[in-house]
Amino acid sequence: LREHEEFTKVKNIATIELGKYEIETWYFSPFPPEYNDCVKLFFCEFCLNFMKRKEQLQRHMRKCDLKHPPGDEIYRSGTLSMFEVDGKKNKVFAQNLCYLAKLFLDHKTLYYDVDLFLFYVLCECDDRGCHMVGYFSKEKHSEEAYNLACILTLPPYQRKGYGKFLIAFSYELSKKEGKVGTPERPLSDLGLLSYRGYWTRVLLDILKKHKGNISIKELSDMTAIKAEDILSTLQSLELIQYRKGQHVICAGPKVLDRHLKAAGRGGLDVDVSKLIWTPYK
Ligand code: ACO
Ligand code: ZN
Repeated sequence: LREHEEFTKVKNIATIELGKYEIETWYFSPFPPEYNDCVKLFFCEFCLNFMKRKEQLQRHMRKCDLKHPPGDEIYRSGTLSMFEVDGKKNKVFAQNLCYLAKLFLDHKTLYYDVDLFLFYVLCECDDRGCHMVGYFSKEKHSEEAYNLACILTLPPYQRKGYGKFLIAFSYELSKKEGKVGTPERPLSDLGLLSYRGYWTRVLLDILKKHKGNISIKELSDMTAIKAEDILSTLQSLELIQYRKGQHVICAGPKVLDRHLKAAGRGGLDVDVSKLIWTPYK
């Protein structure tokens, strides 16, 4: 029986159609029961409504007048735009996004209470509209200083630097709030890899430019990265020594250069001058 349950839990939607992509799903997502018999779902790439049949989607596309996510465009640079969607004001969109995202997120519990979250939806825009490449969600008020709840780059767009862009964006929002932040735990393997990559690159860049001693607290103030995340990153790079009950950063130029080389490319950068945003109140 257990095996059967596991099986039925894994086997609901196997593929989705979204914009010009057909995407194979990774995990179970708790779509409403009337979709239990579906192996494929057809999403409107703009409002994220989902349908059982292609003809329904085609009919929908003739009436749907959205060409980008609902909410406010808070960033635009070249063809990249970021939209902020309030889960309370755009409940259906937010719920659809959660159903979609769960197909690629294993360990996360799906939040039905989308009211409490803001959704930052990253799009590549062209003359047909703004096409979602990924998103992250953020609690409006986090007790635990989380600055990101869930992050996703849609599979066709993965490994192109969008994940690091989304992470960088979440820290830029924290800087504007004057707070330090950290992603909600647990992180997936891919989530941890991406965060480790981001933290490593940001910290090494600062250490490389900075002359003289610098403390973890100072690094945290500059980057909005939580002190614990800085410590664990620098420890994994073996740049921390413990002296007289204190963690001290020890990084010579040669070691930094070696680590920087290994850290690879920085990816897409967030141009802060193009971010127009005030913290949620
Ligand atoms: N294999 C090995 N390394 C990888 C892989 C992979 N498949 N994917 C990402 N990485 C590592 C690499 O170091 C990469 O940097 P590099 O390409 O310079 O080597 C780095 O992560 C980030 O790569 P990006 O291209 O910036 O990230 P991407 O756009 O692929 O998005 C993300 C990363 C969001 C984690 C994506 O893999 C994803 O959506 N996964 C499914 C959902 C998920 O697991 N989300 C995180 C859950 S934890 C949380 O939400 C708090
Ligand atoms: Zn639509």
